Amino acid sequence: MPVAVATPVEPATSSFKKLFTERTTPPPELPPFVYADRFDKPVFGDWRDELVTKGYAVVKAVPTEKALEYRERMFQWMESFPLGFDRADPLTWKNEHLPVHMKGGMFHGYGFCHEQVLWDLRCEDGVIDAFAKVWGTDELITSFDGGSIMLPKRTDVPDGGKWEHMDQSHYRKGFYCCQGLVNLNYNGPEDGGLMVLEGSSKLVEEHFDVHGRHSYKSWGPFDWHGFTDEEQQWFYDRGCKWVKVCAEPGDLILWDSRTMHYNVRPSGERDRVCSYICMAPAHLLSDDDRKLRVHCFEACKGTTHVPFAAIFAREFDPVKRSDGNPCPHDTGRPKNPPTVNDRVEKLVGIKPY
Ligand SMILES: [Fe+2]
Repeated sequence: MPVAVATPVEPATSSFKKLFTERTTPPPELPPFVYADRFDKPVFGDWRDELVTKGYAVVKAVPTEKALEYRERMFQWMESFPLGFDRADPLTWKNEHLPVHMKGGMFHGYGFCHEQVLWDLRCEDGVIDAFAKVWGTDELITSFDGGSIMLPKRTDVPDGGKWEHMDQSHYRKGFYCCQGLVNLNYNGPEDGGLMVLEGSSKLVEEHFDVHGRHSYKSWGPFDWHGFTDEEQQWFYDRGCKWVKVCAEPGDLILWDSRTMHYNVRPSGERDRVCSYICMAPAHLLSDDDRKLRVHCFEACKGTTHVPFAAIFAREFDPVKRSDGNPCPHDTGRPKNPPTVNDRVEKLVGIKPY
């Protein structure tokens, strides 16, 4: 990958990650967030009102045919590993023939987050326009997240549970981030994908006001909270219902990070393909976190969804195959590194707006 800045930059140690991986009591004081009340009221007159009332929205972002071409490129990436995967032969739709993934098809290793195909998706006008509407500015930076290629009829993947969660700390007040995924195949009720607890985003703050914020449960990042069955029941008692979000190829599914959600694998005939993209205003980035993002880009590391803070950058560690050994095909670098252009540099934070 072309080097974006001349001087190598060490990861910033002042990142939120350093601060908050220790559980803190009492809860941390967080500075007021400038966009906290942005989605309090449905005043927009378009799909953004659904972000307020339901906690999610579906927006056409990429033309259907082009989205299906992206799906094809994602499959070509998966086929490029010499592991024996053949999309025409379901007998090869097994871990032993596939690059290492989690939850039946979520890819984060192999520098996948920085493959050209994922950067092309991030640079799509329709994707950027949608996030520009979310925030009211088109001066945006993007997350470096991965994608999913979930094959149907997998029999070798155990059910990992639902993981009902929100990707926002319960210590935060109000709106903090809007997540997205670009759906790249026809995606109906049986085709796997995103489950959302409709209406939960509006109730989250009240829930924790009532029940307290005594601890937080997270696999790592600060902005994550897994909900217990008892916590979920409180939302059901207030009318919230689980909805499987269905979408066409090229639809961008957006959800408020306060919306409780989880992922389901396909149970029908079709594969589920998508990329996870989250954009936010560039001005929210501190200089330390900007340097950390440039480091992540140059080192082909992924981040979690929030592009501007709490950047969760892990050192490269090859993904492990099912026998516990590192996958020899994971070099930490993408097979097709992205071409760096003006838009990419701005979305990374290398170049100011
Ligand atoms: Fe999530």
